[in-house]
Amino acid sequence: MLGILAGFVAAVLLLIVVNWILSSKPVSLHGKHVLITGGSSGIGKFLAIEAAKAGASLTLLARNQERLSEAKSEVEPYLTPKQRIVCVSVDLSKDYHQVEHAFRQAEEILGPVFMLVNAAGASVSERFDETPVDDFRRLMEANYLSAVYATRAVLPEMKRAGGGRVVFLSSQAGQLGVYGYAAYSASKFALRGFAEVLQMEAKPYGVAVTLSFPPDTDTPGFRKELEMGKPKETLLISDTSGVFAPDHVARVLLRDALRGRFLSYIGLDGFLLATVTCGVAPVSSLLEVVVQVLTMGLFRIVSLFYLSSFDRIVSKCLKERMEDEKKR
Ligand SMILES: NC(=O)c1ccc[n+]([C@@H]2O[C@H](COP(=O)([O-])OP(=O)(O)OC[C@H]3O[C@@H](n4cnc5c(N)ncnc54)[C@H](OP(=O)(O)O)[C@@H]3O)[C@@H](O)[C@H]2O)c1
Repeated sequence: MLGILAGFVAAVLLLIVVNWILSSKPVSLHGKHVLITGGSSGIGKFLAIEAAKAGASLTLLARNQERLSEAKSEVEPYLTPKQRIVCVSVDLSKDYHQVEHAFRQAEEILGPVFMLVNAAGASVSERFDETPVDDFRRLMEANYLSAVYATRAVLPEMKRAGGGRVVFLSSQAGQLGVYGYAAYSASKFALRGFAEVLQMEAKPYGVAVTLSFPPDTDTPGFRKELEMGKPKETLLISDTSGVFAPDHVARVLLRDALRGRFLSYIGLDGFLLATVTCGVAPVSSLLEVVVQVLTMGLFRIVSLFYLSSFDRIVSKCLKERMEDEKKR
């Protein structure tokens, strides 16, 4: 018995060492241009701080000029005299030519974009039949089309340069459908399809794609969504996984992107979800694929417990609502 255990431990250690030797080393951001959409707030702003610490020059892109200037002054203390920061105001979800023009403006000052982080996004949480129909289009534009436009504006130059990084911020709601997120989930699932295609097309040119699935993260966007109100079911389901700090989410995401990992997740739930939903996603390391193969079945069983607890929440809330209606 002891021998089997020792053999298992030795095999795991060997795997970790082989993986460490084979896995790609992180690229340096020193002197490179990192453009962050949604860089004026939340995860995007903390990514800007992390990229600044790593030596990059930065473009922060969003619509509201005032919030861009505020974010710029928060990032500036992390810059050395050789690094620069530029703010560009544009609505990413409307007209592609405006987006391209905004990117060219930034590149005239800081040179070609080496890393694009697609962090701009929006969210609403309502039951499907209570969601205003226009919100389905609005969220598709804000979360999916904005990333398509921004990526289109930088990819040709990255391919010519023979390297780069493109990062997408999906969501855990882009891995599984969650009550109340019909419009949001669909737009975040769309990013996955896009990112998988893009990585296959861009990889031969040395451009790596990273798809991040942040959990609930304490940002202005998250707080605004809470203020607007969510169905009780959505709140109770979200409560099962907790709220993360945006600087932590940004650090993990940047680390994964610099290592060229395709799937990026946060925490234990993130690991479970990324593994059980990996499908035929591209593999970033030997360790990753071994872990996926060995744990997939077990994690599927764990996911059934989660699903049944979510179903219980939904049934209980419906019962409560019906009783409330009867009392009125
Ligand atoms: N926070 C979470 O719990 C969480 C969880 C999972 C995934 N995510 C995703 O992670 C990303 C960042 O989330 P966050 O909570 O950090 O965001 P946030 O605080 O709400 O900030 C959103 C950013 O996107 C910009 N933006 C929104 N629409 C835009 C548009 N049409 N054109 C240009 N800029 C636009 C906003 O600036 P302006 O309004 O000035 O344009 C702002 O800078 C989002 O894609 C979000 O869906 C967040």
